[in-house]
Amino acid sequence: MRCSLPATPAGPLLPFVVLPAGGCAAGPRPARLGSVDVLVTGGSGRLGRRVVDLLRGGGHRVRQMSRRGTGPGGVRGDLATGFGLGTALAGAEVVVHAASDPRGDPWQVDVAGTRRLVQDADRASLRHIVYVSIVGVDRVPYGYYHAKFAAEQVLLASGLPVTLLRITQFHEFVDELLASARRGPIVPVPMGWRLRPVDVGEAAARTAQIASGEPAGGIVEYGGPREESAADLARAWAAAREPGTRVVSTPVPGKLSAAFRDGAALPSGGARGSRTYAEHLRG
Ligand SMILES: NC(=O)c1ccc[n+]([C@@H]2O[C@H](COP(=O)([O-])OP(=O)(O)OC[C@H]3O[C@@H](n4cnc5c(N)ncnc54)[C@H](OP(=O)(O)O)[C@@H]3O)[C@@H](O)[C@H]2O)c1
Repeated sequence: MRCSLPATPAGPLLPFVVLPAGGCAAGPRPARLGSVDVLVTGGSGRLGRRVVDLLRGGGHRVRQMSRRGTGPGGVRGDLATGFGLGTALAGAEVVVHAASDPRGDPWQVDVAGTRRLVQDADRASLRHIVYVSIVGVDRVPYGYYHAKFAAEQVLLASGLPVTLLRITQFHEFVDELLASARRGPIVPVPMGWRLRPVDVGEAAARTAQIASGEPAGGIVEYGGPREESAADLARAWAAAREPGTRVVSTPVPGKLSAAFRDGAALPSGGARGSRTYAEHLRG
């Protein structure tokens, strides 16, 4: 289900929410007042550490969980085994669930781990759990996305007060993909892939804002300011980071590639960041 809000001269007045049943609602609702106890899973990660700083700056009492539990307010917890989850979750009024293991076993960490998190949640105190997901997890046929979608379903079925926050690719992630795709003087990119990458700092600010508000009970999307092709992103990246390399657009067959060409990784609505990929490259 795709939803839209009436555009105004200033753009959509409100961010939008796609509810699981297919309906639409404006959201999130205004921020709560006062300081709350927050647990950020994946608080040492790229997004999570920024969310931690922003929520602390907003006056909240923030713990952040990772397997090593390092850093200020760090607690040890392992989603893959369940170690430490009950202790980490005790008394948490808000949970931002940003831990993930795309390079390891996302079915164990993201799906079974989210189930463990749900089981160990402190239902007496919990008022909101925000799950950080990815735009297109329901439409892009890719193993990691299937796992993220399954984790969303675990949360929706949990009866907990949830917001599923689907975000597009972070600029740094695009950098990493392009750097790993480069073969000497050539950067091959899939022809026709459509993306809307976002600044991770803006995504963190949106995550913190949503965590400070009421649960949406469904999906909220967030993406960058501009739709760009993989080739355009690659040309900008090559010019800024690897001058002399040449971008070659290559037709890629298969369902995954077709999904990216069809815009399955683009948000259908929601708030937008303002920092472009070109601005990110300029630093
Ligand atoms: N990267 C993107 O472009 C992008 C775009 C949209 C949405 N997202 C989503 O945003 C979230 C954060 O992404 P990110 O790129 O910031 O991730 P990241 O930098 O890879 O950080 C992942 C975090 O998860 C923790 N973690 C991994 N395995 C764990 C386990 N078994 N138990 C507990 N913690 C574990 C890591 O800490 P330790 O290793 O210390 O345990 C780390 O803090 C993810 O859910 C991702 O799917 C990412």
